[in-house]
Amino acid sequence: MGSLTIDNVRKRYGRTEVLKGIDIDVTDGEFIILVGPSGCGKSTLLSMIAGLETISDGEVRIDGQRVNDRGPKDRDIAMVFQSYALYPNMNVRQNIEFGLEMRGVAKDERRRIVERVAETLQMGDLLERRPGQLSGGQRQRVAMGRAMAREPAVFLFDEPLSNLDAKLRVEMRTEIKELHRRTGTTTVYVTHDQIEAMTLGDRIAVMKDGEIQQLGTPQEVYDEPANRFVAGFMGSPSMNFIKCRLEGAGDGVTAVAEANTGPLRLPLPAERCNGLTGRIGDEIILGLRPEQITAQGDADGAKEDVHVASCEVELTEPTGPDTLLFFHINGERVVGRTRPEHAPGPGETLPLAFNLSRAVVFCPNTAERLA
Ligand SMILES: Nc1ncnc2c1ncn2[C@@H]1O[C@H](COP(=O)(O)OP(=O)(O)OP(=O)(O)O)[C@@H](O)[C@H]1O
Ligand SMILES: [Mg+2]
Repeated sequence: MGSLTIDNVRKRYGRTEVLKGIDIDVTDGEFIILVGPSGCGKSTLLSMIAGLETISDGEVRIDGQRVNDRGPKDRDIAMVFQSYALYPNMNVRQNIEFGLEMRGVAKDERRRIVERVAETLQMGDLLERRPGQLSGGQRQRVAMGRAMAREPAVFLFDEPLSNLDAKLRVEMRTEIKELHRRTGTTTVYVTHDQIEAMTLGDRIAVMKDGEIQQLGTPQEVYDEPANRFVAGFMGSPSMNFIKCRLEGAGDGVTAVAEANTGPLRLPLPAERCNGLTGRIGDEIILGLRPEQITAQGDADGAKEDVHVASCEVELTEPTGPDTLLFFHINGERVVGRTRPEHAPGPGETLPLAFNLSRAVVFCPNTAERLA
């Protein structure tokens, strides 16, 4: 079993509070991601769960037991860091065995555990090599093996892949997911890579300045961001934020902006208008992801929620599977995304489809989502 409760946890260094009351209930077997910009407190939180940092306030519980005052060794957790810190003079087998030996695990039992770990991580043929004879990815796998050997209730990862090159990162990401599927060990995983967050997490905690901005499934965080920060942080290229004025239209609401070809009037579908009728005449921020602005031929979604308007595409960027379209609304750059076969040439004016069923609306003052 390995449930983990983080209950109103705070961290102060002198007078500065770097974690401001964090609440996360991690269920047994869950894979939780902590994601956010540099300095937001991800590593600090992980170190407090591990017992490497004291907890200023609040409580950490593992399987319902308060662990605040327990040392790292007595918390039934294992942590994998960005720098894997293997012992250079020991071979892989010894690296994995060392911690077990220190805890007085008998030799036969150690052998059994090493064999199981090596099989799970498919590195049986590497056991006699030293770290210097391994690639970065293999070293990372050994570091994971060392953590797995402890059979912990909870796994903690702090940016374990950030020292690897792009291709290897993607491979190891899939391996970690596969490993979690097989072992089912409760995991808290820190990254500032939003793709890693989306692909690995059962749930994602998006953090900023020592606070959780949103805690939800990857799809919730992506489709229904709590505020403009979350919306802008998850997804690449980032969501477009378009300043609009709200106009009443029958019993509906239309968001009006100025595109580079003239006025752009976007009628919002009913399910995206909750509470907006009281804001007619006000300015709002309309959030639309690049994939919701496409060349007309690509448009999906219910037809009535797709609004077509002509815009001048100033620049295109082919990425392979699709092409990015750059143009301006209100003098600010907006990015669309379309299949290469529908991509216009630069400077071409063409009908673009705005899928408004996926639009989100933010308050320009508080940056909270309104609809
Ligand atoms: N020992 C310390 N004394 C004072 N402030 C500290 C100390 N350790 C960390 N901090 C501050 O706490 C904040 C959170 O740091 P932390 O290392 O948790 O960030 P992070 O989210 O892991 O960032 P990164 O993505 O860069 O690793 C930072 O502002 C940092 O400067
Ligand atoms: Mg960190």
